[in-house]
Amino acid sequence: MANAMQTVGIAFFLNGREVAANVTPGQTALQLLRGQFGLTGTKEGCNEGDCGACTVAIGRWDGGGREFRYRAHTSCLVPAARLHGTHVITIEGLGIPENLHPIQRAFLDSHATQCGFCTPGFIMSLFCLYARNPDPSRAQIGEALEGNLCRCTGYESIFRAAASIAGVAGQILPPYHEPVAQALAGFDRRLSFAEAPLPQGAEPMDYHRPETLERLFDLLWRIGDCERYRIIAGGTDVVVDANVKRLRFRHLVDIAGIPGLSEIRGTDRGVSVGALATLTDVTEHRLVSAKLPLLRAVVSRMASLQVRNSGTLAGNLATASPIGDAATAALALDATLVLATKMGERRVPAGSFFKGYRRTELCAHELITAIEFPEQDGPWDFRKSAKRGAVDISSVCTAMTARLDGSKVAAIRIACGGAAATPVLLAGAAAAVLGRELAPAAIEQAAQAAAAEVAPIDDVRGSRQFRSALVRNHVVEHLSKLL
Ligand SMILES: Cc1cc2nc3c(=O)[nH]c(=O)nc-3n(C[C@H](O)[C@H](O)[C@H](O)COP(=O)(O)OP(=O)(O)OC[C@H]3O[C@@H](n4cnc5c(N)ncnc54)[C@H](O)[C@@H]3O)c2cc1C
Ligand code: FES
Ligand code: FES
Repeated sequence: MANAMQTVGIAFFLNGREVAANVTPGQTALQLLRGQFGLTGTKEGCNEGDCGACTVAIGRWDGGGREFRYRAHTSCLVPAARLHGTHVITIEGLGIPENLHPIQRAFLDSHATQCGFCTPGFIMSLFCLYARNPDPSRAQIGEALEGNLCRCTGYESIFRAAASIAGVAGQILPPYHEPVAQALAGFDRRLSFAEAPLPQGAEPMDYHRPETLERLFDLLWRIGDCERYRIIAGGTDVVVDANVKRLRFRHLVDIAGIPGLSEIRGTDRGVSVGALATLTDVTEHRLVSAKLPLLRAVVSRMASLQVRNSGTLAGNLATASPIGDAATAALALDATLVLATKMGERRVPAGSFFKGYRRTELCAHELITAIEFPEQDGPWDFRKSAKRGAVDISSVCTAMTARLDGSKVAAIRIACGGAAATPVLLAGAAAAVLGRELAPAAIEQAAQAAAAEVAPIDDVRGSRQFRSALVRNHVVEHLSKLL
């Protein structure tokens, strides 16, 4: 049909009932919930994952179908098509004014809301926390709420409300939870596609969700021109580009349906993280905690819990952002990226992957399928300087891994983000201490070498001089840990 656009037929559970919708490829879950379903309790604030006002709970079977788990997501960053086969709970699904949910009641009793704009988001984040953990610590409550901003109430009363929920934790899950979870166990995951008239001025976009790597590669070869499609994994960069920069692509290629890519597994040398493993999967996995404490520390400081619940490690590396935190970890840990095309696989060390400002070693139609990390076996350190403790990208972030032979430095890698066009290894700083006894003079030499080998820019996150000073100071702090 001329002037037609594709629509994607999805079915999911929304609060207590099963619903169906025809969504467009570029539509977000937030637009669907507020527009088609009239659930305006889910608020639209920034539309780029920063404020948390649009937070909803998305439930699905996790861990190979072992556990039904609700996770908090910023619905402004979730493609609506991704809701297929999930259970979405919004603020309306928890309680109504005549019959408040215990978390809503706690907010009221603790005076934890004023204008109320942020409140649904806070409550949905706490719902996901308490649904799994009936007795969280203050630190865990803080982590659950790090992606929710409030401009007028003040966080102390919100923390008070959150802490008071522990006493009623048994009443957190709504009565419809169990039947919905059972219904989703055998849900038909296939999407249906149709066409609708293209609104005036709109550009057509097709959504693809290949179910195998072979089908993905065939599709990409068929589309041909790399400029015509965009791969989407977690979507936390792609959807921001669409919402804020208004970028449009003829084809959106969703790789979330390809099995096997979410796996985190042990290897002969360490740990392999699949391309679809989310940042949360990385922080929660026991192999990462046991064998890659640096990676865990870096990823835990990225974004907010809501964003980590969607975003992937591979997606962070693929963007080649000069301030991508995961790149710093990959460089310091000497990770290897597994890249695949229709023709086969190749392995590229992280040190050769970043080619220039937002340019990588990835060729046309090539996918990162996994990132392989050797197990850590020595001291390490990570420093992130940013304006805020959470939900803030780095002014400068640096990571170090080292091996000591007595008091001499037998091996060392220091990686730095935020101070050059790409994340870089500070080779000069490492050379200044390699094979030497660590002493204040050697540390000073390394710090000066580090400041000399970076080329930071001036921007809102810091001037060139400030960033150089940060790099220098980070290196002093890293190396002082080895004394
Ligand atoms: C509020 C907010 C805060 C953030 N804070 C931080 C932060 O503190 N530190 C930080 O480093 N980042 C931060 N980010 C950035 C973001 O979360 C990461 O870059 C994320 O890890 C990207 O992964 P994704 O799966 O969402 O990628 P997507 O958005 O799906 O994709 C990003 C790009 O990578 C490509 N891509 C994805 N997967 C693959 C693959 N397997 N192979 C090849 N190409 C691929 C896509 O085509 C696209 O071009 C933040 C983002 C938001 C919205
Ligand atoms: S509207 Fe701000 S995070 Fe979604
Ligand atoms: S209550 Fe007004 S923004 Fe939080």
